[in-house]
Amino acid sequence: MASITLPILTALLCVSLTTTNNIGVFRQIEETSLDLMSKILVLEENKKKIKVGETKLEKWRNLRVDIESSRHSKQSKLCLTLLTLIVAKTHCTMATWVVGVATVVAAIFIYRLLKLLAGPSLPLPPGPRPWPIVGNLPHMGPVPHHALAGLAQTHGPLMHLRLGFVDVVVAASASVAEQFLKVHDANFSSRPPNSGAKYIAYNYQDLVFAPYGPRWRLLRKLTSLHLFSGKAMDEFRLVRQGEVGRLTRNIASSGSKAVNLGQLLNVCTTNALGRVMLGRRVFDDGDGGCDPRADEFKSMVVELMVLAGVFNIGDFVPALEWLDLQGVQAKMKKLHKRFDSFLTSIVEEHKTSKSENHQDLLTTLLSLKKSPDDGEKLTDTEIKALLMNMFTAGTDTSSSTTEWAIAELIRSPEIMARVQQELDSVVGRDRLVTELDLPHLPYLDAVIKETFRLHPSTPLSLPRVAAESCEIFGYHIPKGATLLVNVWAIARDPKEWPNPLEFKPERFLPGGEKPDVDVKGNDFEVIPFGAGRRICAGMSLGLRMVQLLTATLVHAFDWELENGLNPEKLNMDESYGLTLQRAVPLSVHPQRRLSPHVYSSSLS
Ligand code: HEM
Repeated sequence: MASITLPILTALLCVSLTTTNNIGVFRQIEETSLDLMSKILVLEENKKKIKVGETKLEKWRNLRVDIESSRHSKQSKLCLTLLTLIVAKTHCTMATWVVGVATVVAAIFIYRLLKLLAGPSLPLPPGPRPWPIVGNLPHMGPVPHHALAGLAQTHGPLMHLRLGFVDVVVAASASVAEQFLKVHDANFSSRPPNSGAKYIAYNYQDLVFAPYGPRWRLLRKLTSLHLFSGKAMDEFRLVRQGEVGRLTRNIASSGSKAVNLGQLLNVCTTNALGRVMLGRRVFDDGDGGCDPRADEFKSMVVELMVLAGVFNIGDFVPALEWLDLQGVQAKMKKLHKRFDSFLTSIVEEHKTSKSENHQDLLTTLLSLKKSPDDGEKLTDTEIKALLMNMFTAGTDTSSSTTEWAIAELIRSPEIMARVQQELDSVVGRDRLVTELDLPHLPYLDAVIKETFRLHPSTPLSLPRVAAESCEIFGYHIPKGATLLVNVWAIARDPKEWPNPLEFKPERFLPGGEKPDVDVKGNDFEVIPFGAGRRICAGMSLGLRMVQLLTATLVHAFDWELENGLNPEKLNMDESYGLTLQRAVPLSVHPQRRLSPHVYSSSLS
C-alpha cells in the first residue's frame, strides 16, 4: 500500500507547491498527507519493512514538526515537498515512480485548468504584519480610529488586519467605503458577533445588533413608523421644541455660573426622546437641570459606549474569552444589570399607568404583545432591548455633536457671528428658533455639516460582517471578515478635503469645494450616519436635534469659556469610546442676547 500511496501523496504535495496562492487547498492536502504518511511510516516501522534508516526517519519527523509550526510559508512547502520526495524515493520502485510522476503531471494540468476557468485567485488587501495569536490587536492603540488612520497612510485606504483569529478589513477612503456600503451593501448587512451585543444588548435581541432578516426588518419598521418617519417627526415637533425651550430657560437661569453644556444637552435629548417613546420625561430638569439620575444615566450611556468601543480580546481569540483578560465582560454584565433595572422599571410603570392619552412608542410595542400575528409579537426583553438602543444610540450622539459644534464656534468668533447674524435676520430677537426656520438657515446648515465632518459621533461607525467572500478593487475579502469603516479618517482625507483640519463651513456653500454634498449617506466623503441598509435608523431625528439645539444655543446666548480662557486655547482632544466624547467637557458662561420675555415664556 505504501509503495503506491507515497508517490500519490508526493504528487499531491507537488501540486500544492505549484499552487502557492491557495493556502486553503495546500493546508488541507498537507494535513491529510502528513497524517497518512506518518501512519504509513509508523506501520511500516512496526512491520520492520521500512527501508528508511532510523536517523532519516527521526530527521523527517523533527523537520515535520518544524514545518507544521510554520505552515504557511513557501519555504516550508518546498521543504516538505522535497522531503516527501526523498522519503518516497527510498520506498518506491521505478514503476511506482512513473505512476507518481504521471499523477503529478495530471494533477497539475487539471488544477491549472480549473484555476484558469475559475479566474485568478486574489490577494488579501495589504496591511501591517500581524503578531502571533493576537494578530494586529496591539496596533489598535488607545484611540483606534487614529491608529487605523495612521496605518492607512502606509498601507492604503483598503487594509486587511488580523485581530486575533478574525479577518478585519478597514475602509479609509470615500471610494472604498462606497464599494462596501453601496456596491456590496447586501453582503455586509449584518453585524459581527461581539461581547457587547451578547452581554449588554440582551444577546442580540435588539435592533442595532439583530442579524439582517425578518426580526431586524420588523424592529426597523416599528421605529421608523412611530419615531422617524416624516409624519412622526412632524407630530413630535412641538415636543422637541418644548424640550429645547426648557433647556434655554435652564441655561438662562444659571446666572453667572459656568454650565456643563454637555450634561444639560444630554438631559434635553433624553427627555425629548422620553416624551416621544414613553409619553413622559425621563429626568427632572428643574433649576439648572441637575437631576442626579441624569448624571447617573449619562455616565451609564458613556460607559456603554466606552465598553462597546474596546477591542475585547475575547471577541477575537475565542479560546481566551473565558479569561476576560481586560475585565470587559465583567463590566458589561454589571452595566447590563443597571440598564435592565432602569428599563424594567420604565416598562412596568408604563403597564400600570392609568393615562388614556398614550400615543407613544412603548404603548404601541406593548400592544403588539397581543397581536394575532406571531411574526409581529415582541417579548418584554425585545422591548427593553429596543428602548435601550434608542436611549443609548439616540441621546449622547446628538448631545455630544452639539457640544462639539458650540466648541468649534467659540473657537471661531467670526463664524459664530455669521451664524448669529443669519439667525437674527431670519428669526429676529423676539422669539426662539423653531424647526420651521431651519430650511431658511443655509449657513447654519453648513456649520452643522462641517461639525459632523470633523466630529462624527461614531468614528468607526458600527462594524459589519461579510456574509460571503467577495472581491473589492481586485482584493479578496474573506467570508466572515469584519468591516470597519473609518468615518473619521474619510472625512479628513486631504484628497477630498483641502486643509481638512480647518473648521470651514463655506466648503458646503455655493462656490465652496462641496456645495452639493449632504451627510445622509449619499456622499461617501462624509458619512457620519453610515450608509446603506444599516444606516443610522434615527438619522432624521439626530440631524434635526443637532440643528435645532445648535441654532437655539447660538441664537439665544453669547458664550464665554470658564475662567476667561482664551478660545484659541480650548482643549479639543477626543477621548475614545464607540462614540466621540470631548476629553474635557465644555464648561461655559452663557449671556442672554434675546428679548427678556423669550427666556420666561411658558414652555410646553
Ligand atoms: C448625531 C446623531 C447620530 C449619529 C452621528 C449616529 C450615527 C450612527 C451610525 C454611524 C450608525 C451605524 C450605521 C451603519 O452601520 O452604517 C448608527 C446606527 C444606528 N443608530 Fe444612530 N446616530 C445618531 C443618532 C441616532 C438617534 C437619534 C437614534 C435613535 C433615537 C439612533 C439610532 C440608531 C440605531 C437603532 C442604529 C442601528 C441601525 C441598524 O443596525 O439597523 N441614532 N447610528
